[in-house]
Amino acid sequence: LRVLFATPEIAPWVKTGGLGDVAASFALALRDEGVDLRVLVPCYPALQKNFPDAHVVAKLKNLGGELPDSVLRAATTAAGVPLLLLDNAACYQRPGNPYLGPDDRDWADNDIRFGLLGRVAAWLGSDACTLDWRCDIVHCNDWQAGLAPAYLHYLPQRRARSVITVHNLAFQGIFEKQALARLGLPDHAWHINGVEYYGRLSFLKAGLQHADAITTVSPSYAREIQTEEGGMGLGGLLRRRADSLVGILNGIDTRFWNPASDAFIDVHYDSERIEAKAANKLALHRELGLNTRDDVPLLGVVSRLTRQKGLDLLPPIADALAKIPVQLAILGNGEPVLEQQLVKLAQCHPGMFATTIGFDERMAHRIEAGADIFLMPSRFEPCGLNQMYSLRYGTPPIVRATGGLADTVVDCNAATARDGSANGFVFKEVSSVQFLATVRRAVNAWRNPAMWQRLQRQGMTADFSWQKSVRNYADVYEELMR
Ligand code: ADP
Ligand code: GLC
Repeated sequence: LRVLFATPEIAPWVKTGGLGDVAASFALALRDEGVDLRVLVPCYPALQKNFPDAHVVAKLKNLGGELPDSVLRAATTAAGVPLLLLDNAACYQRPGNPYLGPDDRDWADNDIRFGLLGRVAAWLGSDACTLDWRCDIVHCNDWQAGLAPAYLHYLPQRRARSVITVHNLAFQGIFEKQALARLGLPDHAWHINGVEYYGRLSFLKAGLQHADAITTVSPSYAREIQTEEGGMGLGGLLRRRADSLVGILNGIDTRFWNPASDAFIDVHYDSERIEAKAANKLALHRELGLNTRDDVPLLGVVSRLTRQKGLDLLPPIADALAKIPVQLAILGNGEPVLEQQLVKLAQCHPGMFATTIGFDERMAHRIEAGADIFLMPSRFEPCGLNQMYSLRYGTPPIVRATGGLADTVVDCNAATARDGSANGFVFKEVSSVQFLATVRRAVNAWRNPAMWQRLQRQGMTADFSWQKSVRNYADVYEELMR
């Protein structure tokens, strides 16, 4: 079985969020499962630099519309994952974030940049493909690769079956109608059962409409996106396609995110040596200029700062948090207003709260290891990786009951504490009051060392590897090949 995994991100080279991590760890896990998988990703500067010897395997011409001629290069990662780098300097050799220009706005030609990704993915699954490796399944991810199933559908020489995975329904890749011709899609694709979406063209809708199978990244999110509210305009389509839709929980890379060997942290530890975690808290205190208090719990945040993540619930309760007292270590970047508010919190509570604005892989690991409690009050969360990382690092999370958070975190209450299934703290409503009440609950539990260690162990010893989920994906592929 040959699977092409088309993605706009792959860690460690290109990562703006969880999809980068997932692409890297999923590819490894599938390879270990014996699937012949190749990853198609745009050749951004970081990939160009890291794979200077990637050799040309195909020259792509006449792709339709205004899609530019491009080149495919092949390379293999150190871990042994085969990459197909989609190389077009004008499209992808740009500094910084893969989607945004220096003015923080979407690149004006994102339709072409990511239409090209979908088009080439479809080419790799069609009769036109000139490689000796032609895929049976095109597995595309999010809107950026979402046109692949549409191209496969409208191309005369269709061959591969297609799967689309929704990592986040909030990003839909919507463009003006002119994009249709620019992308080389036929006029009859402009249809409510095609790529048209309220008078514009949506990459994600196109993918959801035409893919043979749809997956998303947790069972709860699969249910939520079929509702009016969670469907973000696509609920009706997803309800119609319910028979082809399945939620499969993401796994994590248990080698890269492992407190027993993490290269970014000062002192290694595991579930048998949790005491050693304390040294990482002290290191974080020092690095962030926080008072070195071991009698106060340190709460950690690592997040994109967008409405999705619910961190706007934090400023209204900051003073109450400082009085409990708790300390806060925040790392994030995103919406400028929220960035400023969180920076201000730290200024108002020196020694107690620290905010770092930026994207910093090293610091992310150090917060997972050094904090006592992790915060993820998301409004919605398709899967979420950070709560799984924090569970593994003995840093019980406080989460809102939504999507993948609801599927991975078990609230600590009398019953779950007794049967040993508790691993964190869960609240239901998007409300600062509930959030604060849950922090208080967590802090009380933290003050009971025996109970706290049980909670930590439960998270640290759970299996969040890809093993189970990879079987579920293999089932989806096999079903399509039948
Ligand atoms: P999402 O994909 O919605 O951002 P996830 O929890 O699935 O949420 O994944 C986020 C990933 O991005 C995690 O690996 C997390 O550590 C990382 N991350 C998010 N913000 C930052 C940041 N400011 N610095 C470093 N890593 C970050
Ligand atoms: C998205 C979601 C996040 C998920 C990640 C990887 O960015 O917001 O919840 O974990 O994709 O699937």
